[in-house]
Amino acid sequence: MTNEAKKAVGYKAAEKVTDGKKLGLGTGSTVEYYLERLGQRIKDERLNVVGIPTSIETEKKAIEFGIPLTTFDEIQTLDLYVDGADQIDPCFRMIKGGGGALLREKMVASCSAYKVIIVDESKVVNRLGTTFALPVEVVPFGWKLCEKRIEEMGCTPWLRIMNGSVPFLTNNGNYILDCRFPEGIKEPEELELRLTKIPGVLCTGLFINLADEVLVGHENGIEILKK
Ligand code: 5RP
Repeated sequence: MTNEAKKAVGYKAAEKVTDGKKLGLGTGSTVEYYLERLGQRIKDERLNVVGIPTSIETEKKAIEFGIPLTTFDEIQTLDLYVDGADQIDPCFRMIKGGGGALLREKMVASCSAYKVIIVDESKVVNRLGTTFALPVEVVPFGWKLCEKRIEEMGCTPWLRIMNGSVPFLTNNGNYILDCRFPEGIKEPEELELRLTKIPGVLCTGLFINLADEVLVGHENGIEILKK
């Protein structure tokens, strides 16, 4: 069910792309369906679009599907951003960064005129952080200091690890602290302000005011939510 729902919303989002658009390309398994369908449309309809990927993984997929790419050296504003999320609440506040692409995702989302989030229904929650840890990207230098300060905010952070004891590195060469809040995140806006004031914290996975429309994939169809 989940993969079908992901495919349905990914394909639906690809219908939003029109000729000449500058696109922000999110990261993750749901976005992969969007990229696949977008690639088909570019080929079939000779769409002239260009995209900025939010991760090396997405860059590779975009190349595979024939989506032309550019960088922020060339353009600094985008028309349409499509991305997945790990959790989204009724106010369209999200946790992102399960795939570790949060910093680039936030940069790309923030310069996009219209932002569409594609999720299956398992991602929709009443309160963020109850069942998914909040990723926070920190510089490797002094990461223990960040961990200590974040812990003082009432959560349990731990360093994301890959392959045994090797820390996971983001595409920017940084670490991720996954922060579990025992009762979820009560005040996401306030938490975002407090976390981003800690020297060494580069970005949190809290995405606030970064969604205009949400496509939710259900077993029996797609629900379209707008702000
Ligand atoms: C990556 C992200 C993804 O959008 C998020 O993890 C959702 O991924 P998926 O569509 O695979 O469930 O934030 O950093």
